[in-house]
Amino acid sequence: MKLCDLLARPATALAVAVAAAAACGNATAEQKPVYLDNSAPLEQRVEDALRRMTTEEKVAVIHAQSKFSSPGVRRLGIPELWTSDGPHGVRPDVFWDDWNQAGATNDSCVAFPALTALAATWNPSLALEYGNAIGEEARYRNKHVLLGPGVNIYRTPLNGRNFEYMGEDPYLASVLVVPYVKGVQSNGVAACVKHYALNNNELNRHTSNVSVDERALREIYLPAFKAAVDSGAWTIMGAYNLSGNEHLCHNHRFLMDILKGEWGFDGAVISDWGGVHDTDQAIRNGMDLEMGSWTNGLTSGLSNAYDNYYLAYPYLRLIKEGKVGTDELDDKVRRVLRTMFRSSMNPDGGYGSMLTPGHYATARRIGAESIVLLKNDGGILPLDPAAGKKILVVGENAIKMQTIGGGSSQLKVQREVSPLDGIRAAAGTNTVAYARGYKSEVLPPQDGMTPPQDITDNRSEAELAAEAVRMAADADVVIFVGGLNKNPGQDCEDADRTTLSLPYGQDSLIAEIARVNPNVVMVNVSGNAVAMPWLKEVPAVMQAWYLGSEAGNSMADVLFGAVNPSGKLPFTFPARLEDTPAAFYGEKAYPGIKREDEKIFDIDYTEGLLVGYRWYDTRKIRPLFPFGYGLSYTTFAYGPLKASAKEMSADGTITLTLPVTNTGSRSGAETVQLYISDRKASVARPAKELKGFSKVTLAPGETKDVTFTVDASALSFYDPATSSWVAEPGAFTATAAPSSGAKGQSVTFTLR
Ligand code: BGC
Repeated sequence: MKLCDLLARPATALAVAVAAAAACGNATAEQKPVYLDNSAPLEQRVEDALRRMTTEEKVAVIHAQSKFSSPGVRRLGIPELWTSDGPHGVRPDVFWDDWNQAGATNDSCVAFPALTALAATWNPSLALEYGNAIGEEARYRNKHVLLGPGVNIYRTPLNGRNFEYMGEDPYLASVLVVPYVKGVQSNGVAACVKHYALNNNELNRHTSNVSVDERALREIYLPAFKAAVDSGAWTIMGAYNLSGNEHLCHNHRFLMDILKGEWGFDGAVISDWGGVHDTDQAIRNGMDLEMGSWTNGLTSGLSNAYDNYYLAYPYLRLIKEGKVGTDELDDKVRRVLRTMFRSSMNPDGGYGSMLTPGHYATARRIGAESIVLLKNDGGILPLDPAAGKKILVVGENAIKMQTIGGGSSQLKVQREVSPLDGIRAAAGTNTVAYARGYKSEVLPPQDGMTPPQDITDNRSEAELAAEAVRMAADADVVIFVGGLNKNPGQDCEDADRTTLSLPYGQDSLIAEIARVNPNVVMVNVSGNAVAMPWLKEVPAVMQAWYLGSEAGNSMADVLFGAVNPSGKLPFTFPARLEDTPAAFYGEKAYPGIKREDEKIFDIDYTEGLLVGYRWYDTRKIRPLFPFGYGLSYTTFAYGPLKASAKEMSADGTITLTLPVTNTGSRSGAETVQLYISDRKASVARPAKELKGFSKVTLAPGETKDVTFTVDASALSFYDPATSSWVAEPGAFTATAAPSSGAKGQSVTFTLR
C-alpha cells in the first residue's frame, strides 16, 4: 500500500470541485458535503472532512509526498498542499524529490528586499504591502504555504542567516511581522513563521542545544513569534536546534505547552526540512506536518522515501498494532485541514498575480526606504545628476547578483537591477566608469541554478586592486559597492561567518582608494554588521541590504537624492567582535561546548536579556553605530517630551507627546523611537527598551506632534515565579530619540 498517492495536481478550484463531486457520488451544489461548503464554519468543515478520512488518509496528509508538498485526499477532492520558500520571493519549482530547480519557464519571481531591509524601514505599512505582494506571487504560483517570515532575534553578527530576519529587537520584529503575515494571508496563502525557536546561529544548527533563562526567552526570543500567532498566523515552522535536549520540531515545552497551550495556536506546526528525528516524539510533542526528512538517507538520492518518514508508515504501524491511539493523529489532521481550508481550498484569495509593475514598485520603494545613511560628512550625498562629474564605481557587489546563493531563500528572478546599472541609469550628465577592485570565489551552480551572468575574472587580486586605485585617482567621486555576499561563510544558510571583517581584501582596498580620492562613498551590502576600520577615511557610508530585483534602482534613488534616506538600523554595529555579548562570554555562549561522547553542542545564552543595544547600553560599551541609527539629507529637531499625567495606574495609560521639526531644506521622514527605563526594579533590567516608534514625514520647516500611548505592558518584565508579566510601581523614564544611542528627550512618570 502506498500512502502518498501521486495524484494529478488539480490546477484550478474547478478541477478540485469536479474531483470532489466525483468522490461524493452525485453531489450537487445543494447537497455539497459540509467540508466543501465554503460558507460553513471552519470547525464544522474540519470535523466533517476528518470523519470521512481513513486512518491511511490521515497519516498521508501529515507528511511530505515530495520535497515541498504533502498529498491531499484525492478521494475527497482535497487537493495537495504546496509549500514554497521563502521570505523574500517565491522560490523556483524544484524536482519532485530533490533540491535542484526543475528548469521550469514560468517560475521566475520578483525578489523583494530581504527582511533585514524591511526591518530597517521601521514602516509597518510597507510590511503589509510586502506581505500582500509576495502573497499574490505565491497565490498565482499555486503555493499555499509561504515559508516565511523569519523572526529569529539577531544575537550575534556572525549568524549566517541574520539577513532573513528582522533584527535584534523583539518589539520592532513584533510590530513588523504582524502586517507581513496579514498581507500574505489576505491572499489565501498561509504564512509559515520560522524558525521557532532559539535558532540564532547556523553553525551546528542541527546539534545546538540552547539554554536560556526564562526571562530572556519570554522578553527577547518569543515575543515576535507570539505576536505572529496572536495576529492569526496559520502555520509555524519548528527549528532545527534543540532546547532542553529536545529538538524544536518535537519539543513538548515549546510546541505543546507554550505554542498550542498558552498561546492557543490552532494552526499547523510544519517541520523544518529534515528537522524531525523520532516518531514517538513527533507524535506526542506537537509536530503536525513532517517535511524534508532524511529517512535512512534515502531522500538524499532520488528514491521515494516518503513512506518511511517518521510520521508515515512507522506511525501507521504503531496505530495498527494498537501501540498508540489516534487522538494525536486527529489533532494533527485537524490542524492540517484548517490550513488547507484557509489556503489551498480558500476561494477568497483570488488568483494572485506575479511579476506585476506594482510588485516591482513595492520592491523598489521598500528597498529605497530601507537604506540607512550612516555617515555623510560635508553633505557629499546626494550626488547631483546634473553635475557632469566623473563617477567611478568600484566593487564586485556593484555587478554581482545577490538573489542567487544564501541557501533556501535563493530565487530565480525575472530581473535584478545591479547597483552599477542602477547608478548608470540615474547618473544624468555624470559619466560612470567601473573597476571591479576585488573578487570573491566563483561558486558552482546552487541547487541547480547558475547565475545568468558570468563574472569570472582571471586577473589577480593585485591587478584588480591596482586598476581600481589608478582609476580612483582620476575620478571626482568613487562609489564603492562592497560588503558581504551570499557565498557560504558570508550571509548564507548552514554556516556562520568567522569574523566581523569584510572579506576579499576590501578593507585595505577601501583605505587605499581613500588615500588617492577624498570623495569615497561606501555602500555596504550585507545583512549583518561589519567592521569598518576605514570609517574615518571615507566621508560617506550607506548601509544597503540585499534589496532584490530593484536593488540598483533603490540604491540609486538614495545616492542621487530622488529618495531622502529614512532607514534606521534594526541591529547594532559593534566596534569589535569582542564587544558583542555572545563573544564576551566565550565558547559556552557561542558557538557552544561539544559534549564529549555526543554530537551535541551546548550553548548557554549567558548574556540573558542583554541582547543588542540592551547589552551595549547597560554595559556602557560604545558601538560603531547604535541600534535605531540612521541619518537623512535633512535634519530634525526634537522638542520637549511631555506626559499627559505625572502618574499612571496599573490598568491605565499615559500619553507621551513631543513636537518634531524638519529643520533642513528637504522633505524627509524620521522614525522617532520611544525607549522606557525602569528607574528602580526588584530584578535586573536593561538600561532601556524600545516600546514604541513612529515614522513621520515632514516638509522643510514643518512641525508635527508625535504621540505614543503607553500602558503597563510597556513597563513590565516577565516574572518566572508567577509565569506572568509584572509592572512594578515606581518611576519610569520615557525617552523619545532618533536612535538608541542618542540622548533624545525624556520625561519621568510614576506607576501607582
Ligand atoms: C530552511 C528553511 C526552509 C526549508 C525549505 C531549510 O533548510 O532552514 O528555512 O524553509 O529548508 O527550503
